[in-house]
Amino acid sequence: MKAYMLLALGLSGLGVAVAAHPGEAAHQEAGNILPADMERGARFELMKHFAQSLGVRCTYCHVGEEGQPLSTYDFASDAKPAKRRAREMMKLTHMLNQHPDLPGEDRSSLTDMSQNRVTCYTCHRGQLIPASQLPPPEPKPEG
Ligand code: HEC
Ligand code: HEC
Repeated sequence: MKAYMLLALGLSGLGVAVAAHPGEAAHQEAGNILPADMERGARFELMKHFAQSLGVRCTYCHVGEEGQPLSTYDFASDAKPAKRRAREMMKLTHMLNQHPDLPGEDRSSLTDMSQNRVTCYTCHRGQLIPASQLPPPEPKPEG
């Protein structure tokens, strides 16, 4: 764990701790919940988790053109509703991981999905809209 100066954010009562960092204020002002100085590789892992869990590409949430270099994307923009929705989902997922009724070892991370009991994949399973109904029953084998 890095020796950040941690300051508690009243993130809709979630009590998420974020690192104090120059630029952090502006970053949070823009509505972001991930720390501004989150390591690039870790952030990319998290974003890949989002994309793969939902079965989409970066452009589903971010302004940018498929096939163009990522350097041309405007990742900071919140123009796409899916990005704003995903942020709410991050809060929900984090809240579930911190819920006292969730069975299993107590651990939760906003930034590292490999730490969590509940992740985007838990519900989404590669689909944008998670299934809520059982599939039709398999035909029973004869005899
Ligand atoms: C399901 C939606 C979703 C997908 C898919 C997604 N992202 Fe994100 N991304 C977000 C959200 C939400 C944030 C803002 C997180 C926050 O509030 O701190 C974000 C933030 C970022 C940022 C930081 C932007 C800033 O403010 O500086 C980068 C860079 C980024 N994503 C890259 C990617 C890349 C690369 C991919 C594809 C591999 C990707 N994202 C896929 C939702 C998504
Ligand atoms: C507890 C289950 C659950 C978890 C965990 C979860 N989601 Fe969802 N998510 C849902 C459900 C259910 C819907 C669809 C609601 C509806 O019917 O429109 C949804 C919808 C979405 C949508 C909107 C899709 C659209 O229509 O464009 C996005 C984006 C999304 N989730 C991102 C995420 C991300 C990113 C994570 C992980 C940080 C996540 N979700 C974790 C249950 C979950």
